[in-house]
Formats: sequence, structure tokens, C-alpha cells
Amino acid sequence: NEPLLILGIDTSCDDTGVGVVALQPGGQVEVRANRIWSQTVHAAYGGVMPELASREHVERIDAVMQDALEEAGIGVADLGAVAATSGPGLVGALLVGLMYGKGLAQGLGIPFYAAHHLEGHIFAAAGEAELQPPYLALVVSGGHTHLFDVVREGEYRLIGATRDDAAGEAFDKIARLSGLGYPGGPAIAEAARRGNPKGVTFKEPMTGQSGYDFSFSGLKTAALLAHRAGAGGEDLAASFQAVAVKHLLKVTLRAAHDLGRRTVVVSGGVAANQALREAFGASGLRAVFPGKGLNTDNGAMIALAGAAAIRAGREPGGLADGATAYAP
Ligand code: KG4
Ligand code: ZN
Repeated sequence: NEPLLILGIDTSCDDTGVGVVALQPGGQVEVRANRIWSQTVHAAYGGVMPELASREHVERIDAVMQDALEEAGIGVADLGAVAATSGPGLVGALLVGLMYGKGLAQGLGIPFYAAHHLEGHIFAAAGEAELQPPYLALVVSGGHTHLFDVVREGEYRLIGATRDDAAGEAFDKIARLSGLGYPGGPAIAEAARRGNPKGVTFKEPMTGQSGYDFSFSGLKTAALLAHRAGAGGEDLAASFQAVAVKHLLKVTLRAAHDLGRRTVVVSGGVAANQALREAFGASGLRAVFPGKGLNTDNGAMIALAGAAAIRAGREPGGLADGATAYAP
């Protein structure tokens, strides 16, 4: 009746993430470790440099893995399975974690599972509450604004996505143009606490649609114009945050209503936003959020995706692009 200990690795972008999750015989999951090395070498370039990211992963991955094993209080021989992100992401960066994980599993003689990065974000909240499909999953990060209908274990239907910028990208860009700094999400959230959410008038995006897509580029342009017209950073932050949260919630509520879903998992970097958490919490849906350190990219969420694959009886392995578990 020992739990199965699953190591999860994510090196899809500029964070080296390694986590450990315990999968109980009854199916419950628990995060035992979650260690992240965030690369800073890219700051000087104003964007992530793929070649540098790959090299940093190679340099750091052993240490992050040792930290994770220590945090979990286990040795490498205690592991029962390994999962790693196989896509999407920067190819060179992904391959570091993917091949490290595959080699480790091979050496230990334990199964290896390829995980889709978004599957990781979806399951990041699995340690917080019992999640029984069907439910909705909204992944809102710097690279994604994706709404999934999780029909059953292992089957995700992409029902909506951003037509242009990701939600986090809009937070980052608006923070930059109003001089609030980087990363934009936390900076906007902080400034918004002192601003008036009605100080700047933003038109809610995509109000005419019947589907479940999102759009953030119009808000970005409106923010730029308001800034040029002299709007203060705090009012701009508060007003933008309010309309962004409203837009995310309204589309999600429409999907929940149409599909008859009662539960929504909200994850990704933007899910750390307090105003968003409050709005979804008060929406009438059962809103489930990842625990601390599990919103942004990390290894534990990939271990949780591995646990879900094992629970669903999926064969070990998986395509190099992680497409096994992802049907857009
Ligand atoms: O998931 P993540 O770490 O990386 C990607 O895969 O993109 O998400 C990072 C994004 C950034 O755009 C950041 O500004 C945003 O999440 N973010 C937030 C908050 N914390 C991070 N956005 C709004 N409010 C926050 N508190
Ligand atoms: Zn991500």
C-alpha cells in the first residue's frame, strides 16, 4: 500500500522545474516536492534566447533534481515513474528535460510518460481538490489562453482560445507601457489595488460572439491610447484588470452554461491573480486553483499529469510532441 512516487520534469521554456508527486493506491495525489530554477540570463536580451535556455537547463537540471529529491525526503531509487514535458515549447529546451527523464527511467527500469505542457497546467490543481470529469479547464499564462472541456480522464477538447495575445502577455505589455515594470501580472495587480477600476473605459472584447474564444489585443491598444491621453498607471491597471477578468469569466460561464459544467480549473501564471480568483470564486461555478508555486511553469504539475496518465491506464511513452493526450 505504498504510494507510487512520480518524478515530473518541465524544461519547456526558461524554468528548470522538477517535482515529486505521490500517487496513492486509491488514486489520491499529493505534491511532495516542487523545485524551480528560473533563468535570469535572458533579462539582458528582452526575451528568452532559446540556445541559452537549453544550455542553462543542461547545467542546472542535476542540482534541481537533487533539491527535489531532498525536499521529498527520498532517493532516486524510490521513484516509481518519470514524466517529462514533450511539448509544446522551445525544442532545444524541451529535449533536455525529455531526454534526462527518459534516460533516468531507462536506467532505473521504471516507466516513462511524455506529458503535454498544457496537460500539466490542467492537472496542476489536482492536489487541491477531487476532480471528476467532466469539468472545464482555463489555462491562462504568458503564452496561452486556452479553454478546455475535460470530457473524461485523458480526453481534452479545446473549445476556445485567444484569437491574438495571451492574457498574461496583455498584462506584461500594459505593465511595460505604463512603466509598472516586469513581470507585468504582479505589477498590474499591485498597482490596481490603488487604482479606480472605472477610471479608464475599456470596451469588453468579443461581446457579440456565441463561441468561447478570447481576445486581448484590442485592450492592449486601448490601454496604449489611454496612456498617451494621460491616464494614470494605477487607474489603467485597475481598469484593465477588471475588464480582463470580466472577459475571462464571461466566456467561461457561457461555456459552462452551454455544456452543463459545474466545475472549472483555472491555472497558469495569470491564475495567481487575486481579483481573478475572487471573481471566479463568486461566479457560482466550483472554481479550483493550483496551490502555491503550481500556477506558473513547474515540474510538479508534470508529475501530476503523469499520475493522471497512470490513473487513466495510459501506455507509457508518448509521442515526441505530446500529442497522445491532446486533441485540439
Ligand atoms: O505560466 P507562466 O509562468 O508562464 C507561461 O507559460 O507563460 O505565466 C506567466 C504569466 C506572465 O505573463 C505574468 O505576467 C502572469 O503570468 N502573471 C500574472 C500574475 N502573476 C503572474 N498575471 C496576473 N496577475 C498575477 N498576479
Ligand atoms: Zn506554461
